[in-house]
Amino acid sequence: MLGTEVSGLEKEIGRQGEGQASGGAEEKENTNMVTGFHEMHSSTGGHRSATLKRICSIDFAQLKQLGFLGPNDQRSRQAEEYRTIKRPLLYNAFGKGAALGEQGNLIQVTSAMPGEGKTFTSINLAISMAMEQDFTVLLVDTDDVRCSCSRLLGVEDSVGLVDVLQDPKLELSDAIVPTNLPRLRLLPAGRSSGNVPELLGSERMQHLVQEMSRRYADRIVIFDSPPLLATSQSTILAQFMGQVLVVVEAGKTPLQAVLDSVAQLNRDKPIGMVLNKSPQVFKSDYYGGYYGHYQ
Ligand SMILES: Nc1ncnc2c1ncn2[C@@H]1O[C@H](COP(=O)(O)OP(=O)(O)OP(=O)(O)O)[C@@H](O)[C@H]1O
Ligand SMILES: [Mg+2]
Repeated sequence: MLGTEVSGLEKEIGRQGEGQASGGAEEKENTNMVTGFHEMHSSTGGHRSATLKRICSIDFAQLKQLGFLGPNDQRSRQAEEYRTIKRPLLYNAFGKGAALGEQGNLIQVTSAMPGEGKTFTSINLAISMAMEQDFTVLLVDTDDVRCSCSRLLGVEDSVGLVDVLQDPKLELSDAIVPTNLPRLRLLPAGRSSGNVPELLGSERMQHLVQEMSRRYADRIVIFDSPPLLATSQSTILAQFMGQVLVVVEAGKTPLQAVLDSVAQLNRDKPIGMVLNKSPQVFKSDYYGGYYGHYQ
């Protein structure tokens, strides 16, 4: 299990105004929330006011041991592969391809079957995109059962999407967590359980994804989701997305399963595919392993 391997991930405290995390209104709004991560009191003009702040410190060394892309790993072959994957997604979101669909900055990562690499791809894409100078990234864990994304990044015990969906008093800003990687924020899966498919299909979810999409003009939102053929959640979620990225495990996923899963998606929106865990020779190896020399 991925989560048990990283259960000791450190949660680091940040101080308001020190600027470790990406800035913006959500960060300011966060200062009054009760999170359990950290409490910092301040006194202003004779009125004592409590400000509470949390920052998730992602353990990149641990992630690297598990094979994930590191933020300082930009010359590796893996970094180059994720550049290739993210370019068309960014083009559809912000480039001329944006005309293809509304809310192209909302990207769902899914697959036909369990274990094909959705969470692996979501986290690596989020890291890769957060290294771009022109974008900010919000990574959303929509898999409330496995919560792999939240566990790997050390926010599995945090208020998250399901809590915000269930409790009208909670806002997105109460749940979004800044990280030690500038330009990357997380929305954990959450602590509540319930009728998650119904919650994901609700009008409130529609409003929330619109808010995620529109609040910042430079924001990409990546949704790590469950498999299309095993649950209804991913199909429900897909209706709100601007783009869908289907991860296919090389040499394992039957073609029919890929076809059946794509048939559940709206073909008017851009649908991309990632061939994951492939042992095949990649372009950079074939042409001399340029990036390999610099590792
Ligand atoms: N390209 C890859 N290289 C090395 N390991 C990988 C790769 N892709 C995935 N893995 C590993 O395979 C396992 C399954 O990956 P992951 O958890 O991302 O799959 P998933 O599709 O999200 O699974 P689930 O359906 O349970 O959510 C993990 O241990 C992950 O680290
Ligand atoms: Mg997963």
